[in-house]
Amino acid sequence: MTQTVTAPTDRGQRTGSRPDSGNAPDSGNAVEARGIVKHFGATKALDGVDLTVKQGTVLGVLGPNGAGKTTLIRVLSTLIKPDAGSAVVGGFDVLRQPKQLRRTIGLTGQYASVDELLSGYENLYLIGRLLDLSGRDAKARATELLERFSLTEAAKREAKTYSGGMRRRLDLAASMIGRPRVLYLDEPTTGLDPRTRNEVWAEVQRMVGEGTTVLLTTQYMEEAEQLADDLTVIDRGRVIAAGSVAGLKAQVGGQTLQIRAVDAAELPEMAHCLGEAGIVGASVSTDAGLLAVPITGDEQLTAVIGVLGTRGFGVAGIDTQVPSLDEVFLAITGSSAVAAAAKESQA
Ligand SMILES: Nc1ncnc2c1ncn2[C@@H]1O[C@H](COP(=O)(O)OP(=O)(O)OP(=O)(O)O)[C@@H](O)[C@H]1O
Ligand SMILES: [Mg+2]
Repeated sequence: MTQTVTAPTDRGQRTGSRPDSGNAPDSGNAVEARGIVKHFGATKALDGVDLTVKQGTVLGVLGPNGAGKTTLIRVLSTLIKPDAGSAVVGGFDVLRQPKQLRRTIGLTGQYASVDELLSGYENLYLIGRLLDLSGRDAKARATELLERFSLTEAAKREAKTYSGGMRRRLDLAASMIGRPRVLYLDEPTTGLDPRTRNEVWAEVQRMVGEGTTVLLTTQYMEEAEQLADDLTVIDRGRVIAAGSVAGLKAQVGGQTLQIRAVDAAELPEMAHCLGEAGIVGASVSTDAGLLAVPITGDEQLTAVIGVLGTRGFGVAGIDTQVPSLDEVFLAITGSSAVAAAAKESQA
């Protein structure tokens, strides 16, 4: 596999160092980026990106292929310099304090970057030593991480004999050696089988539990759903949506109430009464014995229950259905694509 980040300095930069190094940011934000712009020739990979990761939380960065996710991570890791904008990570400025910043972060790039000729153990031990761990500590940390990522049996084999999933796990272990305060994970589970994916998720959650802040890019909505507190969606180098997972879902689709009646024959009458009370859009599914009512918030939920109760309908159960993150993502990136096409046709 190829490496996206420049090779000679990568090993030192991808991993973090001592948790006690650096300043605690005053803002309560572990990462703060403002107006980041990055061109590659004629391509505007980042076009004024703002992003915030609160201390001790996970921010999921979502976006289609080519949106600028990896470029953003490279800027925030000091692997490339932005053309404009500013960013502070762990209290350190990407442009003015790159060395200190690198000692605060851990990075797992989009492509595995293990040394193929070394064994899994040697890879981890070496990185530990590069991070100034003593021989004994580096050994202990390597052994511990190999165990956590189910690589103990393969520890002595050259990494070139590892499967894709094993390399990925070794890569993640490598980024965690220095117990970084801020961890960047660029599509950490792409290509992993479900069991390994779960292991990685558990490990990320464990690190977050220990106080690590995580910035994660992903194409998997399930992963964002599992791990992220907040989301930033980027497309064509611009932020097109940002907020909490629940907030974005509410913004896109609201919720749907699914009401089961004691007597399914009453469903059409229930829909009619709701309509009369100004609650529109109710639809009856006689097969499922359900009345579906789109709502935008809790007040409407209360109103629906109130109307049905007052009119004397028997309600056997109510479920709320929120849109999946897949639906949210498609809705957001879809409308962004439509807007971009409109802009292009105007130009
Ligand atoms: N070194 C480079 N030289 C030229 N163009 C680049 C370079 N790196 C990225 N780009 C371009 O910048 C844009 C953003 O790329 P980037 O890799 O950041 O996207 P991404 O969101 O990570 O995509 P993916 O989901 O496919 O990983 C793309 O158009 C890409 O072709
Ligand atoms: Mg990428």
